Amino acid sequence: MYVSDLALNDFRSYRELVLGLEPGVSAFVGQNGQGKTNLVEAIAYLSTFSSHRVAADAALVRQGTDGAVVRAKVVHGDRPTMVELEIVAGKANRARLNRAPTRTREVLGVVRSVLFAPEDLELVKGDPTQRRRFLDELVVLLSPRLAGVKAEYDKVVRQRGALLKSAGAVRRRGGRPDLSTLDVWDGQLAAAGAQLVTARTQLVRRLRPHVADAYEQVSAGQGAARIDYRANIDVSDSVPDPTAEQLADEGAAGAAAREGVEARETALLDTAAVQERLVAAMGRLREKEIERGVCLVGPHRDDLVLSLGTFPAKGFASHGESWSYALALRLASYEVLREDDGSPWGRDGEPVLILDDVFAELDSRRRQRLAAMVAGAQQVLITAAVPEDVPETLAGARFDVHDGEVTRA
Ligand SMILES: Nc1ncnc2c1ncn2[C@@H]1O[C@H](COP(=O)(O)OP(=O)(O)O)[C@@H](O)[C@H]1O
Ligand SMILES: [Mg+2]
Repeated sequence: MYVSDLALNDFRSYRELVLGLEPGVSAFVGQNGQGKTNLVEAIAYLSTFSSHRVAADAALVRQGTDGAVVRAKVVHGDRPTMVELEIVAGKANRARLNRAPTRTREVLGVVRSVLFAPEDLELVKGDPTQRRRFLDELVVLLSPRLAGVKAEYDKVVRQRGALLKSAGAVRRRGGRPDLSTLDVWDGQLAAAGAQLVTARTQLVRRLRPHVADAYEQVSAGQGAARIDYRANIDVSDSVPDPTAEQLADEGAAGAAAREGVEARETALLDTAAVQERLVAAMGRLREKEIERGVCLVGPHRDDLVLSLGTFPAKGFASHGESWSYALALRLASYEVLREDDGSPWGRDGEPVLILDDVFAELDSRRRQRLAAMVAGAQQVLITAAVPEDVPETLAGARFDVHDGEVTRA
């Protein structure tokens, strides 16, 4: 798919913008603070309903106004679709599909994009929250139905957490908390949580070979990247996960470690079994949960483990390696979406690839490799401070961005 038209009203620094786009490469060039990222952020927002830069939508609405509108015409094959989102600070978004008002969830999955930005270094160096978010955004893009499951799960974790906290407070005052509702919450957490665990595990399996390939290409064969989903499902009695070093061992011990990991991963694909294990784990940990006042069990505490050869990437990878890893995760997402034919758009699930200010950060070798890898994509949007930052092999349309004005060069 590609975006053929973009219109913004009061989005970030743009009062009003109307822009025509074509398939292939488009580069947006301009000094810092001119509105390049704001522009591509708007397109990414249509696909994930969130920004890679801020947690709250309020920052997306132009200062001094009440709401922003992002509108795009996207083309799947030769079929155009009009998508519109109205972002009202502090309220739910309003959506339109082909000009008719609709529920926002109907719009999820229509625009597919993969954005790679300097912030993605946090995927490798940051805490597990970033990596869970990476997985969940992709899970939802692949099956929009799961957006509801995720929202339900987040709500249950919040409310169950509040209940645990107040039960702990009652107990500390010497009282006996009423725990009858907790069982109901346990069941709901396990039901939604198990679906998330299974979906994330399936996704990790799909991503894994592409991450390894992309990393190898970006780094010119310097290291083997491997991703694993780590579920904290049997927290109280789990055997420790094998280390990356044990997994890379070439002898019998390594083979056994890999087999164990494989078996545990396969077990996570059985939603009903995961649900039971979550309920059982909550049963075992109830006292501890009440004492601490937090939900200790469930996919909100899981992680995506990134290894590089025999090392975990976090804490060990150099700056350049971390960059390559983050890039490999995004390129792998792109490949998974591209090969996905489960979308209502059939085989044209190919996402728009957005590279925000990344070429300047890469050394010339990685730059050339990335350019070669993305040259064949249906639509690539690049932002850069100076034209020299855009590799020559990625010739295409160029737009100058200055003070919120976008003009075709
Ligand atoms: N909600 C907002 N309202 C008005 N201006 C905003 C808003 N959010 C960001 N900006 C402005 O947008 C500019 C940054 O634009 P950005 O697209 O990040 O620049 P760059 O071209 O460097 O990528 C800043 O000048 C910032 O003040
Ligand atoms: Mg920028």
